Amino acid sequence: MASTRAAPPIKLNNPSLWVTEGGFINGKFTKGTGTGTFDVINPGNGKVLGSLPEMTVADTKEAIQHAATALKSWRKTSEYERAAILQKIFQLQMDNAEDLAQIITAENGKPLADARGEISYGGSYFSWYAGEVVRNYGDVIPSLVKGVQNTTLKQPIGVCAIITPWNFPNAMVTRKLAAALAAGNTVVLKAPSETPYSALALAEILRQAGVPEGVFNVVLTENDTPAIGKELCENPTIHKLSFTGSTRVGKILMSQASGTLKKLSFELGGNAPFIVFDDADLDKAVAGAVACKFRSSGQTCVCGNRLLVQDGIYDQFAKKLVEAVKAFKVGQGAHDGITHGPLIHQAAVNKVQDHVDDAVAKGAKVLVGGKKMSVDGYFYEPTVLGDVQECAIDQEETFGPLAPLYRFKTEEEAIERANDTEVGLAGYFFTENIARVHRVSAALEVGMVGVNTGLISQAGVPFGGVKESGFGREGSKYGLQDWQQIKLVALGGL
Ligand code: SIN
Repeated sequence: MASTRAAPPIKLNNPSLWVTEGGFINGKFTKGTGTGTFDVINPGNGKVLGSLPEMTVADTKEAIQHAATALKSWRKTSEYERAAILQKIFQLQMDNAEDLAQIITAENGKPLADARGEISYGGSYFSWYAGEVVRNYGDVIPSLVKGVQNTTLKQPIGVCAIITPWNFPNAMVTRKLAAALAAGNTVVLKAPSETPYSALALAEILRQAGVPEGVFNVVLTENDTPAIGKELCENPTIHKLSFTGSTRVGKILMSQASGTLKKLSFELGGNAPFIVFDDADLDKAVAGAVACKFRSSGQTCVCGNRLLVQDGIYDQFAKKLVEAVKAFKVGQGAHDGITHGPLIHQAAVNKVQDHVDDAVAKGAKVLVGGKKMSVDGYFYEPTVLGDVQECAIDQEETFGPLAPLYRFKTEEEAIERANDTEVGLAGYFFTENIARVHRVSAALEVGMVGVNTGLISQAGVPFGGVKESGFGREGSKYGLQDWQQIKLVALGGL
């Protein structure tokens, strides 16, 4: 299969993971029916990594049709059969971990250590759901009516669409896909045009693991993203759409999906508050801020976006955070010793600059960083701003390496400011006071709270937001339920 392919531009132990033909439909890599190609750029140097075929709405319809055909037998496989395949996918992902990490770094730019971490994290969804799906218990429900036995069946939803972003090229797919397949659904993935090679490598892994033809399909496009997205929303054969991306796009997809009343699961933008109280452990808080704010150079939906720091600890926290940020090694993710990589493209760099300029115009001080880096690729200096006043960051996710420090005086003020946003994905706070832990955890209007930690994601816990950060949960037992229908079977005449 790999013989007609262009050679990988990076060194891989298993070159079959560098797929160049195009998307993946009905178990085969295909160029589809489109005419052009789109370029994939290495954000670490701004150079073209490779080109892939533009696919079309017609290709998407074909993928959906094959997913519908495959569903007929896939939904009838037992939980144990699906668990065995998921476990095999996990094993293959881990056997090929180094290659998969290299592919992530080449197209996303993140440092290799982070890419390796993503492969373990992404793979863990397959092993976790392999374990969970064989505990897919139903219910027997007491009946009001004599002679009737009420039971529930948990069944797959059907053909499902998945649309994922570029910031975790592997894990954002696996978090949805593992649960979807475990539940017995078939899937059409629209892969992000910035990081398609990781999605295609995953398709190859699934092929090698013996996932039947048509169960998983991948369509690719850059130019036709809106048209293919619309098809996935409007096609009546699809019964669920799971999307991770911006709140703006989520609203468009939701309105397009309303005509067929699809089940939706949306993980949208965040604007996470990161609160440091006077009674916090300073070192833990600084380490938490580094992990939470600067992970993937600030390009995660759960990154702290606003760092609210109480008056009594503010100066020490600012000083230590600036020292920690000055120690970062920024550069191409594939180079040795790099701790922080580039942003995904120029528009992302410009957005960070806009947020810095706006905050500074309104009184903030640059404590470190504050400008684009004059090197090839899309780099912005890791930045800390002090004494930030009301500004655009209050309501907009920066999605870049910018830590704005806001001063506050009381717990009530911190909570009010933390919740003063339309979105609510993650929130973090640092305190050594146990009563405050309970009060603030309950008061934050978010789907996930990190207390004295800046890292919250794991396969076994529910990931998702409230307010305009979306709905539905990924990971955990709740994540499996999101890919299932519950059917009542009332058996009478007993
Ligand atoms: C995201 O940015 O949406 C995912 C981050 C994570 O899984 O921790």
